[in-house]
Amino acid sequence: MEKMIINGGRPLRGEVTVSGAKNAVLALLSATVLAKDTCRIDNLPNISDVSIMLHILHQLGADVKRVGRHAVEINTRYFNSGVVPHELTKHFRASYYLLGALFGRFGHARVAMPGGCDFGVRPIDQHIRGFELLGASVSFEENAVIALKSEQPSGAPVYLDMASVGATINIMLAAVRARGVTIIENAAKEPHVVDLANFLNSMGADVRGAGTDVVKIHGVRELHGCDYATIPDQIEAGTYMAAAAATGGEVLIRNVIPKHMESITAKLLECGVTVEEFDDSILVAAPHRLQRCKIKTQPHPGFPTDMQPQFGALLATAEGTSIISEGIYDNRFRYMEQLVRMGGDIKVDGKVAVIEGVDHLKGAPVKAYDLRAGAAMVIAGLMAQGTTEIEDIEYIDRGYEDIVGKLAELGAEIRLMPVVDAIRDVKVAN
Ligand code: EPU
Repeated sequence: MEKMIINGGRPLRGEVTVSGAKNAVLALLSATVLAKDTCRIDNLPNISDVSIMLHILHQLGADVKRVGRHAVEINTRYFNSGVVPHELTKHFRASYYLLGALFGRFGHARVAMPGGCDFGVRPIDQHIRGFELLGASVSFEENAVIALKSEQPSGAPVYLDMASVGATINIMLAAVRARGVTIIENAAKEPHVVDLANFLNSMGADVRGAGTDVVKIHGVRELHGCDYATIPDQIEAGTYMAAAAATGGEVLIRNVIPKHMESITAKLLECGVTVEEFDDSILVAAPHRLQRCKIKTQPHPGFPTDMQPQFGALLATAEGTSIISEGIYDNRFRYMEQLVRMGGDIKVDGKVAVIEGVDHLKGAPVKAYDLRAGAAMVIAGLMAQGTTEIEDIEYIDRGYEDIVGKLAELGAEIRLMPVVDAIRDVKVAN
């Protein structure tokens, strides 16, 4: 067990390279189940969610070969179509992509309910309805296992009640080898949905319209292996943009798709930050004090909920009153109480947070409640005067490759410390 220790107050300066997208690669890894052939995935982020997903695939019979730190070759020819137990799925939400992928390959699937960050109730009714429309009979078995079964999965029109990323991806996985045509209406348009469509098409699928409201899938009989590079992580890039801005720094962020960053860039510009876009990089340069702004999180291309906590931290010291409305989840403001411990002046009422910008934050012991809340604590620690100790940092490792190394390269005073040493240090200081 480790804590992250940050001595704040230093502007970030230099260059940082973004890794492959977590939420894309988890869908891609699941999709490898659909072909009895080898898929090679490059730009693989070295994060714990990926390690766990590779472990799950290996446990289920896939031949998984890591190639260096950032690539993997996977062959699922001898994949096991039995139950995927809770022991394997409990770690993160994307494990439910195995439902769509197994159903797509075998016509049946038995997968335990997924884990994932706790932002309130996170139903999967849209996934289930989609599977039913494709011909699955769905039952809920002991040990939280969801079972899908069909003689012959068949394409169908599927209208989603909300543009759910997970449901869009799961239905795509289930439909690519089904007989006939599937049309997903009100589909999610996130960059990772498009990345999955591109990956499936390089495996021989026929998926069109990804990135728009309507995704059309003509089922094909077989898929084959492919070589593919994951897109860069929009949220990791946004997190470094926010960190550079929050510390009054100047950072060139490499390996980004600027188009994916538009909603984040727009808000930084509103706060008085200079953002310059190049082909595959973005330069962020910030004044000493940022200006207030208003944010409402929405499905893509709106401002992403996964960037809300990082902006919560950044706005804690912006001049004036900022307002954040959370439009996706019921309960994603838990981290705000940690910012208040650090001197923030913030009131939360349901899904709205009102932030009165204070002069500065002060270092404090805080917790990473979940992945992005953890990223917010890192940014708050970088901004704050004094030392911040962040506990429960395993959440941060789920989605950020070597965040300590990358920030240290940018001039941050940041390090990891075993929890026991951290306690001893505090005793000595007393
Ligand atoms: N929803 C339903 N029913 C459903 C599906 C979703 O009511 O069947 C609701 C959810 O409760 C939520 C909203 O619809 O209020 C959106 O959920 P969505 O399905 O789009 O989210 P997800 O697929 O569970 C993915 C990302 C999340 C990200 C959201 C929104 C992955 C593995 N996870 O979750 O990423 O917040 O989309 O963009 O792709 C993160 O990376 O930190 C993270 C939490």
